[in-house]
Amino acid sequence: MKFFLDTAHVEEIREAAETGLIDGVTTNPSLVAKTGREYRGVLKEICSIVNGSISAEVMATEADQMVNEAQSLAGIHSNITIKIPMTGEGVKAAAKLVHLNIPVNMTLVFSPLQALICGKLGVDYVSPFVGRLDDISHVGMDLVQDIIQIYGNYEYDTEVIVASVRNPLHVLEAAQMGAHIATMPFTIFKQILKHPLTDIGVERFLSDAAKIPRS
Ligand code: G3P
Repeated sequence: MKFFLDTAHVEEIREAAETGLIDGVTTNPSLVAKTGREYRGVLKEICSIVNGSISAEVMATEADQMVNEAQSLAGIHSNITIKIPMTGEGVKAAAKLVHLNIPVNMTLVFSPLQALICGKLGVDYVSPFVGRLDDISHVGMDLVQDIIQIYGNYEYDTEVIVASVRNPLHVLEAAQMGAHIATMPFTIFKQILKHPLTDIGVERFLSDAAKIPRS
């Protein structure tokens, strides 16, 4: 299972990347806005830290403009994946980008049928937003299960990125379901590394180690 970091903060990405566990990064306009930095500059720096898929979202809403923006973003680095919202115009743009061999991550996916369309388009990644479904009392992870079943039925190669991850259980369930990727905020990444019993165990070993006579 691949771990992506869902942030545009380069300090967070640098710190997480030191673990050797980060396989890619996903950004979106909201995450970049939080950094207060210029869009392309942030993306370029992220590409210099992580050698994996780096998702950059288009801001245009009309297909031809999305394609132009995507081509420009793809020019930043060969690892850039273009995030396209799952709208009618987004579908048209994605079809063109697939044809141009530009990697696409379809984002803002909330239903199995939307995901079916992504698989049929042949995009590289689909991003179901599980947290935002939970927010409206739909079980977000049920959508992931449905997508995995549908993609299995047709042997689609599109990889499932569990997105809008809000807690460690989303990551655990993603792994249990066999999702290819979970993209998580830095806070969640830190949480899954930690276990209180491990920390207590280390403390106990250290205090016992201090009692061992030195030669
Ligand atoms: O990966 C998508 C993510 O950035 C959206 O998360 O918490 O705003 O729903 P959230």
